[in-house]
Order: sequence, then C-alpha cells, then structure tokens
Amino acid sequence: MGRKFPKQTIRDVDLRGKTILLRADYNVPLTKRGQISDDLRIRASLPTLRYLLEQNCKIVIMSHLGRPKDKDLKFSLKVVADHLSKLLSRPVELLDDCVGEAVHQAVRRAPRGSILMLENLRFYDEEEADDLTFAKSIQRAVRADYFVQDGFAVAHRAHASTHAITLCVPGLAGLLLEKEYVTITEAMNNPKRPLVAVIGGAKVSDKILLIKRLIKKADRILIGGAMSNTFLHCRGFNVGKSVFEPGMEKVVAEIYDLAAAKVGAENVDDFLVLPIDVAVAPEISKDFPRQEVNIDKIRNSDMALDIGSQTIEKFTKILAGAKTVIWNGPLGYAEIDNFAIGSARVALAIAQNKGVVSIVGGGDTADFILKWDGHDGANFTHVSTGGGASMALMAGKKLPGIESLLDAYGLR
Ligand code: ADP
Ligand code: 3PG
Ligand code: MG
Repeated sequence: MGRKFPKQTIRDVDLRGKTILLRADYNVPLTKRGQISDDLRIRASLPTLRYLLEQNCKIVIMSHLGRPKDKDLKFSLKVVADHLSKLLSRPVELLDDCVGEAVHQAVRRAPRGSILMLENLRFYDEEEADDLTFAKSIQRAVRADYFVQDGFAVAHRAHASTHAITLCVPGLAGLLLEKEYVTITEAMNNPKRPLVAVIGGAKVSDKILLIKRLIKKADRILIGGAMSNTFLHCRGFNVGKSVFEPGMEKVVAEIYDLAAAKVGAENVDDFLVLPIDVAVAPEISKDFPRQEVNIDKIRNSDMALDIGSQTIEKFTKILAGAKTVIWNGPLGYAEIDNFAIGSARVALAIAQNKGVVSIVGGGDTADFILKWDGHDGANFTHVSTGGGASMALMAGKKLPGIESLLDAYGLR
C-alpha cells in the first residue's frame, strides 16, 4: 500500500541539530480563573516534541489562544508554557513577543535541545490576515531551518502562521497532523463497513457539506441533537419551543433527495435515521426532570433536549453492528446531565463495540467524550483535537495548513 499522507513529515528529513519553528494549536479551554480545563491539545503534541528533542533540535513553538483584541495578557500563553513544561519535565521559556530583536537574541542564545514559546500570535492582527510581512518577521526573529505544522486544529485557517510562513521556511508536517489526517481520511474513504455516522449538535447549516459527504460514504446516518429538531420540523412535525434552525426546508429536501438517490426512496428512513422519541422540558434548565414523548406528541410548550429511550435503543443496536463510527455533534443538550443521557448511552455503545474504529470530531463532542471517558478518550480509536478542522476534513475540504506543506512526491 502506498503512502497515506501526501506531505513531507518530520520523519522524512534529517532534522538533527536543526532549529524548528513549530506551529501547535494550544488554543485550550480555560476556566474563569484562567486555568486550563482540558489539556488534550497539549498532550497530543507531545510525540512530535519528543521526536524533535531526540533529534536534538532547538524548538520554537508558536500558537494562538482565544480570540484576543490586541495584546490582552488574559490571553497570554504563560499558563500553556508552564503546563507543557510540567508534562515534559523540562523548561519551556515563554518569550513576551513573537517578532523582534529580543526574540531573535533569545532564540540565538538558546542551546540545541531547548524549547522556547512565542507569545500569542493573535496579539497581532497580521496573523489572521495571513500577512506575509508578519510571517517574514517571525522567521527573521527565529531563523528556523524548517517550519513544522502540528496544529491540526487550526489547519483549516489560512493565517500567517499556517500559510504565509510556508513561503518563508520549508514546511513539514508533525506527527499529530499526520495522524489526524490519515485517521480521518482513511475512515471516510476506506472504512471497514458498515460505516455508521452519528450527527448531532446545533445547526444543519454548519454541517451541510459534511452531511452530503456522509450520504455518499456512510451506510447509515443517525441524527440527533438540535439538528434533528430541524429535520423533524422540515418533515412536518411540531417541535414546540425546541431549538431548531428555520429556513432549512430546501436544504433538508435536498439531503433527502440525495439519500433517496443512493438507497431508494423506500429505504430513506432506514438510512437517515431520525429520533422516534425525545426527552423534553419546558426550558433549558437542570431543574426540570426528563420527560419523554414520541415525536408526534411534542407540545407547543416543550423543548426537545435529548433523544428518548426508544431512540437510544434503536441507535445503540445499530452501533453495536458498526465496524466504523464517525461521530460529530452531541445528541442533546449535553451540558446538563439529564439531557446528556442519549450522548452517554451512544458513547457506551461505541465503547462496548470491541474492534470498531471510532472517530470523534467536533469541539463540543470531544469535550463531552473526554469528560465521559475520564479525560483520556481511551475508549475511542481517535478523539480529534480539531473542531472546525476535523469537520472540514471529514467534509472533504482541502485544509490550507496542510496544502501549503512540502509535497511528498517520490517518497515512500
Ligand atoms: P460540535 O462542536 O461537536 O461540532 P455543535 O457546536 O454543532 O457540536 O453543537 C453543540 C451544541 O449543540 C451544544 O451547545 C449543545 O448544547 C447544543 N445542542 C445539542 N442538542 C441540543 C438540543 N436538543 N437543544 C438545544 N441545544 C442542543
Ligand atoms: C479551534 O479551536 O477550533 C482552533 O483553535 C481555531 O480557532 P478559531 O476558530 O478561533 O480560528
Ligand atoms: Mg461546537
């Protein structure tokens, strides 16, 4: 079998003793007090860092954190540098800028085998503007031999640190980027069948491309969350006060046409599987118990906040027979325990299906799974570090942060 990753990686090039400018995505969730509430993205970057340390590289890491306006130290990467330092048991020196003479001198003085971190890239508007002059200034400060892209979660953005920088320094993929790409594209293009997709979350409009691609690739698609409220509404059911997306009738009709063209009109409801019952409450609040109703019995005062027991039964049976599962989007309002039951039971069904290849993508879905799974995701084959990036890749889009790296033509 040929190579599954189309770009050069850090394993393809002799990096011994080189200076590496490494793009990570350390955009981690923070608590109100500024502590890291989940460090998946930091832990996932360790294999690449350890590999580069084995090669005795000087590593200069860059990342963004949040969406700051100008230089707002609430968004400093200090908390990330400290955490990384603990995980690696070695110093990680945070510099107070990402460009300029002071950064240059600090990098120049640092010995091989050391790790430095530039301050939040988004303290500069030039970062999101994909500004070439800014990228050149970063390289002028760092003088890297190679740029390494390992921030899979930001690879769907064409920013200075993911795109323009590759015009200044030759770009290689890190091990996380390679693993994310290969795992997700293999599951989409070359799955062990049956491939069952689980789609939930908030909006149909965010996920149209993904749904259309899954119609082509998957054997069955299970739909839940606020997404299924929109489907039910478009299919003529009263969804009461539920969160749903108005104006989606045409899109949903097109989705059903595509599905019918693939499996035949008479099989559509077995292929695109909607809930048969839902858990409702008068409002989104942890004070209301779960009450379950069939989908044709939703009252005007109800909000459908989770899939119901019969639906859970139906979904988990289907998942027990799956060989590959791709899951994007919680199946209910999973922030409240009472309405996280559908997502939890589906997670359990996947975990109990030994031998299944299971891939979880989507920011809120991964958050849920990591909490459910005791923060390590060990019951799943792959919990993607990407939100928008994993969805874009599943939808078959090209990611600028990957496209801009050196091609691997001729490499085995
Ligand atoms: P992801 O980030 O995994 O792609 P989304 O952002 O699409 O997922 O959706 C997550 C959001 O959808 C969560 O805030 C969740 O509470 C909300 N949601 C899911 N189901 C419902 C529902 N039935 N009613 C209201 N909100 C819902
Ligand atoms: C993410 O969390 O999805 C990435 O870090 C990208 O962040 P952004 O949506 O602010 O560009
Ligand atoms: Mg989300």
